Amino acid sequence: MNIFQTIKQEKGFLAMLSPMEDVTDTVFRQMLCKIGKPDVFFTEFMNVEGYCSVGKDRVDHRIRFNEIERPIVIQLWGNVPEDFAKTVREIKELKPDGFDINMGCAVRNVINTGGGSALIKEPELVKEIIQVVKQEAGDIPVSVKTRLGYSTVDTENWIGLLLNQGLDMLTVHGRIAKDSYAIPSRWDEIQKVVRMRDEISPTTLIIGNGDITSSRQGEEYVKTYGTDGYMVGRGILNNPWLFSGREDIPEEERFNILLEHAKLFNEVWGEEKNFSVIKKYIKAYISDFEGANELRQRLMMVNNYDDLKELI
Ligand SMILES: Cc1cc2nc3c(=O)[nH]c(=O)nc-3n(C[C@H](O)[C@H](O)[C@H](O)COP(=O)(O)O)c2cc1C
Repeated sequence: MNIFQTIKQEKGFLAMLSPMEDVTDTVFRQMLCKIGKPDVFFTEFMNVEGYCSVGKDRVDHRIRFNEIERPIVIQLWGNVPEDFAKTVREIKELKPDGFDINMGCAVRNVINTGGGSALIKEPELVKEIIQVVKQEAGDIPVSVKTRLGYSTVDTENWIGLLLNQGLDMLTVHGRIAKDSYAIPSRWDEIQKVVRMRDEISPTTLIIGNGDITSSRQGEEYVKTYGTDGYMVGRGILNNPWLFSGREDIPEEERFNILLEHAKLFNEVWGEEKNFSVIKKYIKAYISDFEGANELRQRLMMVNNYDDLKELI
């Protein structure tokens, strides 16, 4: 039994945090370990062609993690099987709890290089990539995160193909690549994926993704649509305490967590990342109390830890 099946068996379902580039870095994940930890973390996606090039140092920060973040899945993207193989061979030493292949990113830069959801249009290449990753990963579970299709909902063909590749887990974001976030995630199609899984590949865990804003909603969706778990993306920035199930977080706790985050950010990233990255977390932590908006606006002007501390 792999680690995901073990959690499913013990708890009944899996609550996961989405990989989000420039959001769910090791610092944010470490903060979430304190305030509300999901059952499984994913790293931001890392490009395998970048990792296999002289530019390696510019991409490998995305897969940095601390032991307390386990279980953690490393997510990779790209479209060259040899680079997937070489990357997995090297980073296997980090002993991640899983390798995930991104076949869902719809950002233009990613699609233009043939990665992310562009792979939905390349079934033979997809099979080859999954095969080499599985081969190199050995005992480490391998999963895919994808959408329902590229320009049309293509659940039967596309998800059918993936379910025939012997994956340990499959996360389905209920949109197609051409959808904007204005279109709701199609959970009824995700339910169809679960039925297909029962037929084609009973041991593959199915995780539903899209528009979850609370742990209560996540658990309801698991029951309603029959998935093995749910995955939360943007919802975590509206409520970083989401996985704790707590409500009404006191102001003081919010301030302390923001300061702790900023301190850890400096320790981990130093000059490597600009301090302004903190702003998206200011928005996340400093909300839902009287005067939060005004304070937030003032905090947004701050450019270093000491000024932040003083203002708070
Ligand atoms: C800022 C941002 C960055 C993202 N980066 C990634 C990524 O690196 N890998 C990935 O698989 N999905 C990425 N996604 C997609 C999310 O993981 C998720 O599938 C999508 O936002 C739908 O879930 P949600 O409605 O809960 O946000 C990103 C989304 C956002 C908003």
